[in-house]
Amino acid sequence: MNLQESPTWLGSANLQVDSKGRLRHFLSIEGLNRRIITEILDTAESFALLPEQSVKKVPLLRGKTIANLFFEASTRTRTTFELAAKRLSADVLTINVPTSSATKGESLLDTLRNLEAMHIDMFVVRHAQSGAAHFIASHVAPHVSIVNGGDGRHAHPTQALLDMFTIRRHKPDFPALIVAIVGDVVHSRVARSQIQALSLLGVGEIRVVAPRTLLPSHIEDMGVRVFHNLQQGLKDVDVIMTLRLQRERMESAMLPSGLEFFQIYGLTPEKLAIAKPDALVMHPGPINRGVEMSSEVADGPQSVILQQVTHGIAVRMAVMSLCLGSRAYGRERLADEGLSVRGGDNRHGLRQTYSYSGWTSC
Ligand code: CP
Repeated sequence: MNLQESPTWLGSANLQVDSKGRLRHFLSIEGLNRRIITEILDTAESFALLPEQSVKKVPLLRGKTIANLFFEASTRTRTTFELAAKRLSADVLTINVPTSSATKGESLLDTLRNLEAMHIDMFVVRHAQSGAAHFIASHVAPHVSIVNGGDGRHAHPTQALLDMFTIRRHKPDFPALIVAIVGDVVHSRVARSQIQALSLLGVGEIRVVAPRTLLPSHIEDMGVRVFHNLQQGLKDVDVIMTLRLQRERMESAMLPSGLEFFQIYGLTPEKLAIAKPDALVMHPGPINRGVEMSSEVADGPQSVILQQVTHGIAVRMAVMSLCLGSRAYGRERLADEGLSVRGGDNRHGLRQTYSYSGWTSC
């Protein structure tokens, strides 16, 4: 599948929103509009304040059950989804796929049907096959929501949104930004979702910087500028979004070695100095130090890599609460939940703050 193509399995119907345009499943950035993306980011702003409270939980999803169904390895996504669900007071199951009956030949749909029979309200799915989350969403009962935790090379939409959230906190004027995505674009579900999110939010210029072997054909059709030279690609850049070199997805020798990649495309303090002095350095993780960037850059003052991880909790709380809340967390619904909405610190002109009167009863 080319990075810029709409997969045929997306079909014409958008599974992600209900008839009123509200979020039902969260499968990809594609198919969503700026209003929904902004609503998720604004909701996440409220949840990001929770760690400052003595009780870090809200009862929005009390009584709901969420299952993490990860068919592929994950550290950040799985744990932040689990933490996010717990902070929303949901009951959480993490299915250990390598020890589940999937290894005995049970089909994906049969696994799903059995878990559905346990009255699960939401599945967070990571799968090596592109389209797995869409496939599951098209087969579940109407009350069940699916959230894509990364499918093949296709999409990693919550990663893209936590990246947008991180950028917005530092550099909220998106139309003024030049953003460079550097590295293994061709194998990256993250890059595809990032480009779609950056475009939807109106970023001034999106660049991709990579050797020809690590770029999909016709990538320009996604509205990006292509650079094969890192020094040229970093000039005047506000945000550098580096990507992991996905050796496990490489079918043939696309690169001589990680060391050679680092020498040409790896971010070092010298190369970083070509970008704007306050340029942000991002990486979705896991990092290959000495391949995608040096440790000086990864741990340096311009790195926001660990902030990305922290923001993943608030963004995933927002996605889950909006999907299951349907679902509208308008004032009436919040009042039902014992929450009120009041104007908060309004850095983006959009922010709301939830205050909850019953912290101790969570
Ligand atoms: N960024 C990311 O998806 O990391 P994990 O594979 O650890 O979840």
